[in-house]
Amino acid sequence: MEGTFREQLFFVVLCLSVLKGDARYMEENEITPEGLFSLLNSELKREIPEEFIYSRPLRCLDMVAAEGQFTFTADRPHLSCAAFFIAEPNQVINVEYDSVDIDCRGGDFIKVFDGWVMKGEKFPSSQDHAVPLMERYVDYCDSGTVRRTVRSSQNVAMVFFRVHTIGSSFTLTVRKPINPFPCNIISQTPEGSFTMVIPQQHRNCSFSIIYPVEIKIAELSLGHLNDFPIKKSMPGCAGAGDFVELLGGNGMDPSKMFPVADLCYNFNGPAQMKIGCDNTVVRMVSSGRFVNRVAFQYRLLDRQELQRIKVNSVEDFCFTG
Ligand SMILES: *[C@@H]1O[C@H](CO)[C@@H](O)[C@H](O)[C@H]1NC(C)=O
Repeated sequence: MEGTFREQLFFVVLCLSVLKGDARYMEENEITPEGLFSLLNSELKREIPEEFIYSRPLRCLDMVAAEGQFTFTADRPHLSCAAFFIAEPNQVINVEYDSVDIDCRGGDFIKVFDGWVMKGEKFPSSQDHAVPLMERYVDYCDSGTVRRTVRSSQNVAMVFFRVHTIGSSFTLTVRKPINPFPCNIISQTPEGSFTMVIPQQHRNCSFSIIYPVEIKIAELSLGHLNDFPIKKSMPGCAGAGDFVELLGGNGMDPSKMFPVADLCYNFNGPAQMKIGCDNTVVRMVSSGRFVNRVAFQYRLLDRQELQRIKVNSVEDFCFTG
């Protein structure tokens, strides 16, 4: 009998801790950048037929790069699920609830997050996002009847969910409308090129590449060229209201990454750099007084290059060359 009682007590404690827990511990997910990108790579290899609406089951841990309809059905209680959504740089993610059969009062939830969260780190960082952090979460159980669609501010979004009862299910339709003024972006691929323009807006934008890459800046044009004499006495770009910084790090949040280089003078012609971190970010800081523009290309570092810069580097956070 004692054993049974202990089991019951354990069960109660378990239920309590589960009910008490919010999405917080899900954000601490054990997904590593490598894990994330093997998910992403397998997702991008799928051939998506264009003609009809694509549909497939949603998994408890999932990566979705396609438009379509995604259905989750619980085959057992799932307390900590996360689906990552990604689109092209000039698109946003639109999540629409088609049908939802979950038990909100029993502790189930579906939360859309405006961005990505990995191990507690967010992209875009709170500093660079126009929406306050708490408003970046939209919980179906709080707002479902009012907001049947949720739209992200950039090309990535996430859905956290928890479902206790076997057979509970929900279906989401994901669309990717065009974003005419993309600001924060996560690259889908380890190589590509991008031109970031901030047209006289007081905002900061980050382009994140979650692979070790060589980055080649082809052009940097900051509107202040003629009326902002760079004071040679100032170290780095201190004092410049408009500049570009290259950041390297092993987490998602650009505000927690390390500066690799600051660029606050105009130039044409390539400046290149190899950054052997899990995440490389090009971040543009814009005062709003000028039109700022940076064009760059990037490609994945191969294993030999990674080895070489690792050996030559004195940095210990991650290595650059
Ligand atoms: C942009 O970033 C800079 C430096 O990181 C900061 O001083 C400034 O307040 C930020 N601007 C906005 C609009 O967040």
